[in-house]
Amino acid sequence: MCGIVGFVGEKEDALPFIFNGLKRLEYRGYDSAGIALASKSGIAIQKTQGKLAALGELLEALPSGIPCGIGHTRWATHGRPTNENAHPHTDCQGEIATVHNGIIENFQTLREELIAKGHRFQSDTDTEVIPHLLEEYGGAEDLVGAVRQAETRLQGAYAFLAISSRDPERIVAVRRTSPLIIGLGTNANYLGSDFSAFLAATKRAQILENGDMAVVTPHSVVITDKAGSRIDRPVITVDWDIKQAERGGYPHFMLKEIMEQPDVWGDCLLGRIRDNEVVPQEIGLTWDQLAEYQRIQIVAAGTAYHAGLIGKALIERLARIPVNVDVASEFRYASPILDRGTMVMAISQSGETADTLACLRLAREQGVFTYSITNTVGSTVARESDAVAYTLAGPEIAVASTKAYTTQILVLSLLALLLARIKGRARPDLVQGMLQLPFLGHKVLKGIDGITTMAERMAGTHDVFYIGRGLDYALAMEGQLKIKEISYLHAEAYPAGELKHGTLALIKEGVPVVAILTEHDVWEKTVSNILEVKARGAEVWGIVDERFPATLPIDHYIPIPIGDTLLAPVLAAIPLQLLAYYTAVARGEDVDQPRNLAKSVTVE
Ligand code: F6R
Repeated sequence: MCGIVGFVGEKEDALPFIFNGLKRLEYRGYDSAGIALASKSGIAIQKTQGKLAALGELLEALPSGIPCGIGHTRWATHGRPTNENAHPHTDCQGEIATVHNGIIENFQTLREELIAKGHRFQSDTDTEVIPHLLEEYGGAEDLVGAVRQAETRLQGAYAFLAISSRDPERIVAVRRTSPLIIGLGTNANYLGSDFSAFLAATKRAQILENGDMAVVTPHSVVITDKAGSRIDRPVITVDWDIKQAERGGYPHFMLKEIMEQPDVWGDCLLGRIRDNEVVPQEIGLTWDQLAEYQRIQIVAAGTAYHAGLIGKALIERLARIPVNVDVASEFRYASPILDRGTMVMAISQSGETADTLACLRLAREQGVFTYSITNTVGSTVARESDAVAYTLAGPEIAVASTKAYTTQILVLSLLALLLARIKGRARPDLVQGMLQLPFLGHKVLKGIDGITTMAERMAGTHDVFYIGRGLDYALAMEGQLKIKEISYLHAEAYPAGELKHGTLALIKEGVPVVAILTEHDVWEKTVSNILEVKARGAEVWGIVDERFPATLPIDHYIPIPIGDTLLAPVLAAIPLQLLAYYTAVARGEDVDQPRNLAKSVTVE
């Protein structure tokens, strides 16, 4: 996820508008930023790694009074966050500049083709193929025609803006999946990844749909479909304030991040499954590396540790490769026994967690192969690992991790399916099932009405228990962490069959017990445990595969559609996250910045 901004006016200076627009979009990515202005004297660019403040210091070097330009704030996906990889990117002659949000899946092929034709690349990004393709198709003279041709070559999910110094009165914009909105002004028009980019200037907007191309000048907006036929998109009036717009209209980042999960899963899976098979290189590993290791040791903290527990179950069940999962702060001091047949895997959203990083370094000191799953390109964990897979969830702003967790599970699922294939246990049905997850995720989000009622009830209690078996127990662990960290209730997760060995003593009249029931092999056993707590007065709330009988002994019931048990965790995570969210809201807590916690824990 990156933020893109465009401005084209009659006389007005584009620069202040673009910089302010980028400030509003900084939540979408902040590892590098840049601005390009187009005039007959050429394209003027300033860009740099680091936050927008670093770009701010370079703006004096840009000419003033230029009314056409584009800007970008980056969340790295392809290529580390460096000056060279910062957008905008240009063609060989420096006459065309582009900014891009999303992923060009076939960029390697295009890059090789363009290099063979003599194009010189300056960055490692997928984006840079766009200006070179436009150059190839005569884009400096005919930007619109070149964009139309380039569009037929690009695969993936993306939105981009292009400007040309030979035609500096227009911005050409394309949307294919990644969001792009046009703001309609007077003698000027605007573009942005969301409304917040231009809300200070205008509240009138047109939302581009997938496949739309727009040619935007100071006085006109012409939108066409892929075939070039003109289409009308309704003009809407946005009555959000700027803060609301940054959060996509949601009251908190956490809710926005929960709700965008199905789309984020689509981004995470994009290009990683081809011809019904997982592509090893797309999760950072080669066939040889995958085949070499007989054991996997996962290290992680908090929510990432809980994702690791799901990963263990998936890898062991599907590939029959033994996996250990340890909390990083324990592992680092436990004199772990590692050998060359073991792969050490670090899971970390931020890629900067001190304990996780220490485990990685310990493994490397012992000459053990390290692999990381992280959301942050260029993070220390990514840089210090032998191989890395990115979760591609976009920046996670809320302290409580949601979309990073479910995308970690997706990457672990892809890994498990690859390892299974190597072991002669391929599961094409599950590979196919993974592609259904974004669709099922939307279905889950549509069927969660009961959650707010549960949350209001939960908000008034003191102790909550989460139970489940197998994958459902790993989910219970995450459910109880979410509720603790943002609503400050006391919560505990138990393997459902373990309650009777002590914890059952705490169950009394009215105590809420959240039961997770997606594991088909053991569901009847979990039902027996539910009956045990109900017999002691517990109020049982179930997050349950919709195929289980509606007669289960559960007081409040959230049914979820599940294709296969092994793919259920990301779907079942959504109601758990929402339960925590609405409980914290009902208690009036600061959802996005809970007390005593930080988003990235870089100390021991
Ligand atoms: C909980 C949460 C934390 C993190 C943990 C590890 O919602 O966000 O438990 O999961 O601090 O952080 P990363 O994944 O950045 O290493």
